[in-house]
Amino acid sequence: MILFKRAIDITNHLVNLKEKGGLIGFVPTMGALHRGHLSLLNESKKMNTYTVCSIFVNPTQFNDTTDFNNYPSSLEKDIDHLEKAGCDIVFLPSVSEIYPDGLLHTKKYELGYIETVLEGQYRPGHFQGVCQVVHRLLSIIQADQLYLGQKDYQQCMVIKKLIELEHIQSRINICPTLRETDGLAMSSRNIRLTEPYRKQALKIAETLYFLKTNLTPGDINTLKQTAIKNLTKAGFKVDYLDIARASDLNIIDQWDGHTKTLALVAASIDNVRLIDNMLL
Ligand code: PAF
Repeated sequence: MILFKRAIDITNHLVNLKEKGGLIGFVPTMGALHRGHLSLLNESKKMNTYTVCSIFVNPTQFNDTTDFNNYPSSLEKDIDHLEKAGCDIVFLPSVSEIYPDGLLHTKKYELGYIETVLEGQYRPGHFQGVCQVVHRLLSIIQADQLYLGQKDYQQCMVIKKLIELEHIQSRINICPTLRETDGLAMSSRNIRLTEPYRKQALKIAETLYFLKTNLTPGDINTLKQTAIKNLTKAGFKVDYLDIARASDLNIIDQWDGHTKTLALVAASIDNVRLIDNMLL
């Protein structure tokens, strides 16, 4: 496994591999890797000649400095996991490699509706930051295939839009959310959950299963309100819990019985903010 810190060096290396016919798969991460990340890496390894993983905690996607400062980090362990999982190339850039013109001179993307709802509403500027870093990373790596997790469903849609807007040549692969045996979606933030909150946290997945089981055609507001009440009773501060059209994340109050929908939730317990979603 080769480690790169400078953009120019990894670009030159990858251009060389591509010239020899190599296909490049790319897994962008912010570190604190778990089995969910490694499943993306495995998918990439199946379909590409070389797999690149980046670890970079992107400051521009945090609208809250405390959240940025508390973001978990375990670089040595991450590198060890990547090596064991058969990752070919790791990119560990500094802030100045990603933002050579400084953090104040970042580009604005016309994302429209998709950045105004759900995560966008509660984390203003978050998706602009995601686009800034992913655009830069893709311009450095020029990946043939990009691997993202369904757990960040809205982020996947935003990155699809970025790829369209900027005519980027990478193809997106969205991989299923990996869950712990009790149902909790794997997330780097889970390490911050101590007992009894760790046990309480699985109420999020239970609530999504509850929505999946009880969704029926017609008005769905009562169902949503019951789910929010259940989470609040379990000690969560719920930012949002909504049901949306899977194709464009338009929030729905009525279900016609056949449109593909998705439930999405963001809620905090003991100051740890968790997000999850489930196709219904
Ligand atoms: O999902 C993440 O870990 C991040 O948002 C990403 C895509 C690596 C960009 O910083």
